[in-house]
Amino acid sequence: MPSPVNHVSIVGFGLMGAQIAQLLAQSGFSVSAYDVSEAQLHSGLDLVRKGKYGLENSVAKRRMTEEEADNALSRIILLNSLEDTCKGSDFVLEAVVEDLDTKREIFSKAAVYANQDAILASNTSTLTISRISESFSPKVRARIAGMHFFNPPQVMKLVEVVRTRETNREVVSKIEALCTSLHKTPVEVLDSPGFVANRIGISVFAEASSLLEKGIASVRDIDLAMRLGYGYPMGPFELGDLVGLDSRLRNMEAMYSDTQDERFRPPKILEKLVSEGYLGDPKTKRGSKGGYYEYFGLKRPGEDNG
Ligand code: CAA
Repeated sequence: MPSPVNHVSIVGFGLMGAQIAQLLAQSGFSVSAYDVSEAQLHSGLDLVRKGKYGLENSVAKRRMTEEEADNALSRIILLNSLEDTCKGSDFVLEAVVEDLDTKREIFSKAAVYANQDAILASNTSTLTISRISESFSPKVRARIAGMHFFNPPQVMKLVEVVRTRETNREVVSKIEALCTSLHKTPVEVLDSPGFVANRIGISVFAEASSLLEKGIASVRDIDLAMRLGYGYPMGPFELGDLVGLDSRLRNMEAMYSDTQDERFRPPKILEKLVSEGYLGDPKTKRGSKGGYYEYFGLKRPGEDNG
């Protein structure tokens, strides 16, 4: 089924919002994007242009021509009003900070500003779609679903399409069709804390943190063990540094609060790093002092002979 939409309104232009906007634009979709912070709009655009998976690098690596990159960039319109971003839209994708009240507020406004039957999708990674949608009318709840991309979204092939028991079947099909147009593989998931991939991925990260805290092995050796022993492309700490340690912390807080499962209680070491400003790999995480590797003064696997 061809994509039922050709324009997507993105709310939140951080690490994920900006890269998803790029993915959509390079796949031929027009995008309007909004962020509450003007500085974030600028740094997001910088990521689209100059990021590791951004347009300039894609041209340099001959993944696209200069003309294709220019066309992709011209398809992204940045706006500083949520109303203008959603007006006349059939598809709104929210990618703001993992805060329930913020997401609910955005959805309540988007439901008014966007077209009457617009799909309201969230890229949340660990807040449940049911909790975001619970305060809305049944008609609006039927249009709310999860569309969960993985970082870096230009590269990672998976999108979790998350439905609640009230999400309309047609909404799910339309999101799946959009994924296919982006050359992604959708996996349909019934809403539950962490969905599928993070439920498993965060369990691995939690176990790795427990080994680190017990002094069983170093950050680098744990990462190497999972890379070389299990064939993971990245170990759990490198991956934490890539996705952002503040996000990882919020992910675990949300999953712990939803499940009360001790496995997901945020590790002390993670809380300490975040409170000291270690928010992840400074190459991708603006304003961060570093991630696990900078904190422990280690080289990431791949940065030397590892
Ligand atoms: N558009 C499309 N593809 C692009 C691209 C673009 N703009 N820019 C790069 N690529 C593709 C390239 O085609 C390249 O493939 P080829 O090698 O075939 O050319 C591919 O990206 C990889 O590029 P790299 O040179 O960076 O390759 P790498 O081998 O160093 O891989 C990595 C980097 C993809 C990040 C890899 O290390 C990896 O898969 N890491 C794990 C990432 C992961 O697990 N992500 C999930 C995080 S959890 C999450 O996001 C969920 C959450 O809610 C928090």
